[in-house]
Amino acid sequence: MMIRPANIADVRGLAALEARSFNKTDAWTASQYRDGLFDHKYEICVVSVGKIRYAASYIVRFDTALNMYIYGMCVTPRLRNQGIGRAVLQHITYKNDIFNITLTVRSSNDAAIRLYKRMGFHVVRKMHMYYDDGEDGLRMKLYRK
Ligand SMILES: CC(C)(COP(=O)(O)OP(=O)(O)OC[C@H]1O[C@@H](n2cnc3c(N)ncnc32)[C@H](O)[C@@H]1OP(=O)(O)O)[C@@H](O)C(=O)NCCC(=O)NCCS
Repeated sequence: MMIRPANIADVRGLAALEARSFNKTDAWTASQYRDGLFDHKYEICVVSVGKIRYAASYIVRFDTALNMYIYGMCVTPRLRNQGIGRAVLQHITYKNDIFNITLTVRSSNDAAIRLYKRMGFHVVRKMHMYYDDGEDGLRMKLYRK
């Protein structure tokens, strides 16, 4: 597995991976990726596995010197349940071990919620009708000292 910062040549590959991974309303489009790459608050990374260039990805946003937000992470459907999501999340949390990390997840997304809980995240708030289709969100946090 290799994790590297995304660049402008990755925009279409990343948007295609998002479209395979998220609901239409949640997925970042190519133009959102383009904007994100030029916004210094965001870190966008591409994960390749063997010959699969867009196996997984993540987007984080640095809000303050102590707080960051995981905007999203995904693993391409055919590679799920093989430990890649866990490894990517471990990479994010180890690399940013001074930050309190926040994220929001759909309340029906059992796979992601279980993964986040196993990594030490706690549900701190239920976000009523947070998503465009009316589904609730769960705000989860991993606190550091
Ligand atoms: C959530 C996601 C990133 C997990 O990636 P993954 O590579 O499949 O996860 P892993 O194989 O590393 O599994 C890690 C843990 O996740 C949980 N998990 C993964 N798939 C699961 C499933 N289908 N059902 C329940 N739990 C699941 C488990 O806790 C698992 O660990 P365990 O088997 O030891 O209990 C992946 O399912 C995905 O890309 N989903 C679509 C996009 C998304 O929802 N992203 C997160 C929202 S912000």
